[in-house]
Amino acid sequence: MSLKEKINSSKLPQHIAVIMDGNGRWAKQKGAERIYGHENGVKSVRETVEAAAELGIKYLTLYAFSTENWNRPQEEVMALMQLLVHTISAETKTLNENNIRLAAIGDLKSLPSDCYNELQEAIKKTAGNNRTTLVLALSYSSRWEIINAVKEIAQKVQDGLMQASTINEDTINSHLCTADMPEPELMIRTSGENRISNFLLWQLAYAELYFTDKLWPDFRKEDFYEAIVDYQNRERRFGKTSEQLIS
Ligand code: FPP
Repeated sequence: MSLKEKINSSKLPQHIAVIMDGNGRWAKQKGAERIYGHENGVKSVRETVEAAAELGIKYLTLYAFSTENWNRPQEEVMALMQLLVHTISAETKTLNENNIRLAAIGDLKSLPSDCYNELQEAIKKTAGNNRTTLVLALSYSSRWEIINAVKEIAQKVQDGLMQASTINEDTINSHLCTADMPEPELMIRTSGENRISNFLLWQLAYAELYFTDKLWPDFRKEDFYEAIVDYQNRERRFGKTSEQLIS
């Protein structure tokens, strides 16, 4: 039985989030510049998006650029931005052919204007698609997102539009970038690092975390299937006991 056949299609996670890590180390192993790793990471992005769409995963969020990534050498930041712009515009047609909608979360206004415009263009062109939503986290960090949400809520309280005592989980959810998305049930991180690194801290509260030693440019469909099979073999208790889940 292949890994894909082992996947139970009635127990699929609706939303999978991925920290694509290890591009730099992959390039270093090959004696190449870091950007060579990012360029090869694009193939893994394609494979993962294709696998998610084929399986019918409703949301796939990829951590493509963190707020902290702005601190990398200027040369690498610029090369990554160019790669993003180029990939987004080159892939829009394929996204449409496969009924995939593009969305983005993060401080998008901080992106270089060509990258921002290309992104908005692709989001607009794919807005009518509904098989899978591919969410790019760009210039994103979870603490930035939570601070923004708190500021917006505080402003509403100050303006008398809301009472502080009525603030609950739904209030926070609806002020995050992911307001209209289900929470990720599975988070995959490549490259052997076992951290969340400021990614969807609120939204991952009950997610299953899956870590693999594979470096991102080596990540293929089979690795994605393996993560889903592993997820499906876990017992998700949400604070309850095993016995309560059976009854
Ligand atoms: C982490 O590896 C990867 C990134 C910061 C960027 C990921 C970007 C791509 C794969 C390019 C294309 C993406 C899209 C969505 C079109 P790292 O550089 O932190 O690797 P290291 O930990 O080995 O140094």
